[in-house]
Amino acid sequence: MKRVFTYVAGALMLTACTTGTQKAPYELIAADAFDTTLNGRSVQLYTLVNKQGMAAQITNYGARLVSLWVPAADGSFKDVVWGYETIADYLDAGTDVYSGPVVGRYGNRINKGQFTLDGKSYQLTINDGENHLHGGSGGFWSKVWQGGVVTNADSSQSVVLTYESPDGEEGYPGNLTITVMYTLTNDNQLVLNYEATTDAPTVINPTSHSYFNLHGTTAQSTNSHILQINADSFTPTDAGLIPTGEIAPVEGTPLDFRQPTAIGERIEADFEPMKLAKGYDHNWVLNKANGQFGEAAVVYEPATGIVMTVSTDQPGMQFYSGNFMDGKDVGKRGDLHSFRTGVAFETQNFPDAPNHPEFPNPVLRPGETYTQTCVYAFSTK
Ligand code: BGC
Repeated sequence: MKRVFTYVAGALMLTACTTGTQKAPYELIAADAFDTTLNGRSVQLYTLVNKQGMAAQITNYGARLVSLWVPAADGSFKDVVWGYETIADYLDAGTDVYSGPVVGRYGNRINKGQFTLDGKSYQLTINDGENHLHGGSGGFWSKVWQGGVVTNADSSQSVVLTYESPDGEEGYPGNLTITVMYTLTNDNQLVLNYEATTDAPTVINPTSHSYFNLHGTTAQSTNSHILQINADSFTPTDAGLIPTGEIAPVEGTPLDFRQPTAIGERIEADFEPMKLAKGYDHNWVLNKANGQFGEAAVVYEPATGIVMTVSTDQPGMQFYSGNFMDGKDVGKRGDLHSFRTGVAFETQNFPDAPNHPEFPNPVLRPGETYTQTCVYAFSTK
């Protein structure tokens, strides 16, 4: 255990005092737990703390969110994302290497890792059955990004991370430069801003792949979270979770989250798309124009009172209910990464869009700038 310092939020110091001893509301991971060099690049752990005591820890290994301490209704703080306490643990991660990183170049799946662009065919690496998932086995999530912390005019702080993905990496065309900025605002929002440019036509769909548990521990299932998704439809898939191209209504299905509903209420429903995915692992088509920023989902855990609102300018959101987790990995504070104890809300273009001209356009060309904004906002009730 390498945690060596504690943070006492200024505003909370008085309430956190018990019998004259200052009791810190939470323990942060020390930067030296991530002190290593990978492929000649130095790995760092950055810590952002806002005026309300909310904290985000981010490493440049995979542009990953490591910890996210948010206030609960009783005034305590909960770390609501999965992660590990050391870089060694991240490198050893077995069943799920996608705890917290930015995945890409193309997040989610591409059918058989193949697509054609401007008449030229490309073959990407295959790392999920016969398909390409999350940018491949050497995707952005596995790279050491370059970056640092900046202080903004409004006193909030950001971690700015850049990765230069060479032409041909994992099979993708074009030298692509991507920057992801994590900003922790003073009103308890974690904002992710993405920007990318390329020197040759390519496809792009990066997304943040954090597993959230608003209990603050995987000892309790995320099935109790109450979820609302602003989507009238979803993209049905084949058994390999590749979209068929159909846009199907959620009406009358267990994927209808237009009214707040417990995740666990219908998770075992006898509904073919859910049997294929072993639970929820689908792309919802958000009720807004592509590029328009708006609320995608609201997640609420009654036991802690924590509310998380997910907003995006992307056309879709993959909600994945942790169906493939087996509890073999041990995360922070001994938390087992177990079946349905973490939920991901991946704001994105639709899976396999490079093979579906009817889906929103995933192509980035020289001279254009790709942008994406995703906000995870926290409150209590
Ligand atoms: C996918 C799941 C996959 C998981 C890997 C999710 O985005 O939709 O099918 O198992 O990532 O962690």
